Amino acid sequence: MSSNPNNLTTSWGAPVGDNQNSMTAGSRGPSLLQDVHLLEKLAHFNRERIPERVVHAKGAGAHGYFEVTQDLSQYTKANFLSEVGKRTPMFIRFSTVAGESGSSDTVRDPRGFAVKFYTEEGNYDLVGNNTPVFFIRDAIKFPDFIHTQKRHPQTHLKNPNAVWDFWSLSPESLHQVTILMSDRGIPATLRHMHGFGSHTFKWVNAEGAVVWVKYHFKTEQGVKNLDVKLAAQLAAENPDYHTEDLFNAIAAGDFPAWKLYVQIMPEKDADTYRFDPFDVTKTWSQKDYPLIEVGRMVLDRNPENYFAEVEQATFSPGSFVPGIEASPDKMLQGRLFAYADAHRYRVGANHNSLPINQPKAEVRNYQRDGAMNHGTNGGGSVYYEPNSYGGPTESPAAKPVPFEVSGQADSVAYDHNDHYTQPGDLYRLLSEDERTRLVENIVGAMTPVDREDIKLRQIGHFYKADPEFGQRIAAGLGLAVPDSV
Ligand code: HEM
Repeated sequence: MSSNPNNLTTSWGAPVGDNQNSMTAGSRGPSLLQDVHLLEKLAHFNRERIPERVVHAKGAGAHGYFEVTQDLSQYTKANFLSEVGKRTPMFIRFSTVAGESGSSDTVRDPRGFAVKFYTEEGNYDLVGNNTPVFFIRDAIKFPDFIHTQKRHPQTHLKNPNAVWDFWSLSPESLHQVTILMSDRGIPATLRHMHGFGSHTFKWVNAEGAVVWVKYHFKTEQGVKNLDVKLAAQLAAENPDYHTEDLFNAIAAGDFPAWKLYVQIMPEKDADTYRFDPFDVTKTWSQKDYPLIEVGRMVLDRNPENYFAEVEQATFSPGSFVPGIEASPDKMLQGRLFAYADAHRYRVGANHNSLPINQPKAEVRNYQRDGAMNHGTNGGGSVYYEPNSYGGPTESPAAKPVPFEVSGQADSVAYDHNDHYTQPGDLYRLLSEDERTRLVENIVGAMTPVDREDIKLRQIGHFYKADPEFGQRIAAGLGLAVPDSV
């Protein structure tokens, strides 16, 4: 070892003799293949990028904690929610959806709101958005939907025709489209927006009793949105505006916080509620199921290293802990597969052993090997089950609660098809100024569509939500509401 405690080393730990001049034959070169430090440095550099997330590629993250403010153990046995005052460390990643990892923060797009709770019983990931609903309600439509949000295969440009063609042919998107086109479509900062689990989840208590829940994170900073002109200016001048704001606020000790609330629906209500409670394009009325406070999330620490913590963070809607389970929501069901699969591809089979993803609970299982298996890989301990060597065993109490299933196995559409009441109610709730901006945003976004049939089909949907809504958009586009609506 060198006597210099600050010596530069290769990745295999040997001291580097020269990091400024490559080894050459004579002072003019050529370079020598035997300069293994140069080879390693260039080769490692070539591999610095891992694939960016196929969606939600641009993001910012922060560490914090979650503290329980109300005991809801009558509804869930989740240990991290078990008593008032209990604190659980957590990590959050905010993101935009459609843009690449270097894209602008202040675009009109939903914002990802992905939370990892490092609980004593394993990691619980709540991978939500800043909107309570989504554009589609069956996982089988997700790749097609995302294609319309990404770039055209020939021009490599964003394609408004594809966006509005898909939305107009998928009327279940209307609720989320209306939210996206409203003032909330461009938050002022990541600190000034709410977060939602969006799907319905199942909570199970210690007696095995089930309720359905929806999660709402309410910002304590208040909701603030960006004026569209300012947003466009910022997108050009400071594409990392939101990322910078979050980092600087936390660095200055101005820790953003959110209160977590849940809506709780008794298990049996799901059979008779006026909207399908497992349809992620719908909200539950807060008059029917009021918000119940659970706790408070505070972000108080910036990442030390963006790549290690934010880029390599892997959130999965399937990472549950005892007391929290999946609902039959068809989107959620697809997501239970999609994320862990993305993580194995994007980060690797051992992504959960990276420091940012590693549970605080000890991991004991019979998984071995795989690429980048750092750590002891189980050493010489027993590597199969059942075994007679005292290896880890299952906890029957952690089994998901049994549930009834019925009906014929088939590919069937939802039987609840009211796509219009909730977006219409939202429109009617807005002030005149808010309606004007909503209509302007939609007209601005639809103007580049070069096919009139697509515009007319979409106008029909807005009209069905509220006739005035449809008429104002038609007028803004210089068209009339089609007679067939
Ligand atoms: C990221 C798939 C619906 C929120 C991702 C990723 C995939 C994906 C593959 C990248 C994961 C990674 O590389 O780490 C899907 C599929 C969906 C779906 C197949 C529908 C079936 C949704 C919905 C929401 C949502 C409904 C919100 C309610 C997010 C968030 C991220 C994400 C927040 C970023 C997570 C992070 O920060 O690492 N999605 N998604 N997605 N998705 Fe989805």
